Amino acid sequence: MVVEAISEDLELKQRMFQCFDEACPARAVLASNTSGLSITAIAGATKRPKLVAGMHFWNPPHLIPLVEVIKGRQTADATARLLVDVSRRLGKRPILVRRDVPGFVGNRLQFAVLREALHLLDSGVASAEDIDTAMTAGPGIRYGLLGPLRTADLGGLDVFLAITKYLFADLCADREPPPLLADLVRRGRAGAKAGGGFYDYSPRDRKKLLAERDRVLLGFLRVLGGAPE
Ligand SMILES: NC(=O)c1ccc[n+]([C@@H]2O[C@H](COP(=O)([O-])OP(=O)(O)OC[C@H]3O[C@@H](n4cnc5c(N)ncnc54)[C@H](O)[C@@H]3O)[C@@H](O)[C@H]2O)c1
Repeated sequence: MVVEAISEDLELKQRMFQCFDEACPARAVLASNTSGLSITAIAGATKRPKLVAGMHFWNPPHLIPLVEVIKGRQTADATARLLVDVSRRLGKRPILVRRDVPGFVGNRLQFAVLREALHLLDSGVASAEDIDTAMTAGPGIRYGLLGPLRTADLGGLDVFLAITKYLFADLCADREPPPLLADLVRRGRAGAKAGGGFYDYSPRDRKKLLAERDRVLLGFLRVLGGAPE
């Protein structure tokens, strides 16, 4: 099997898969680490779409256990099973994404939260720091163990249903890229790598934050029983 991880560009990946298709044995499985491009479109560049699937490692891949195995429209069940099995043997925690939807599962969840966080910040409900704390000191901790659905089970589905009745209508449902984010990027504030985004970072701050992230992630993983060797 081959796992491709070149730049996130559909045409480039299609050209690469065409090369793989010509160069690899006919029974070889071809997987893409794309974060959200269509697996069906990538597989369409080959003559073996049944043997093509997504295999999305989450960043940083040496620490984060999640691997999303994504079926394109023509991916065979056996291909998906093989990638789930290989991920497990690598010590990962794979999930099967049964349908090739944009963003798969992980990024859909992540970006639903980001859209609401940007909306809260833009409308002045809370500061960036307080919005981050609302997640890191609250639901984020529970999600790390339980995920959103088991969290709802523990809270009581009747209670969660009552909340959806008044809250869903008020949540951000924008369909365009958020102007707040576009404006930051336009002003060169593309995040920690650029010295600033929602917060400011010196090169030293960035190094410290990354080290702290890895230290805390390893601590979480040890407690949860999924720490890498
Ligand atoms: N960065 C992340 O957090 C992350 C997380 C999960 C998945 N991914 C996915 O992994 C892939 C790579 O992401 P990245 O952040 O490392 O991108 P990147 O642009 O930083 O790196 C891509 C690498 O691919 C190389 N490359 C480009 N075209 C090539 C070709 N034709 N042949 C050989 N090498 C080629 C480039 O030289 C570069 O080293 C993307 O599909 C991305 O969506 C990234």
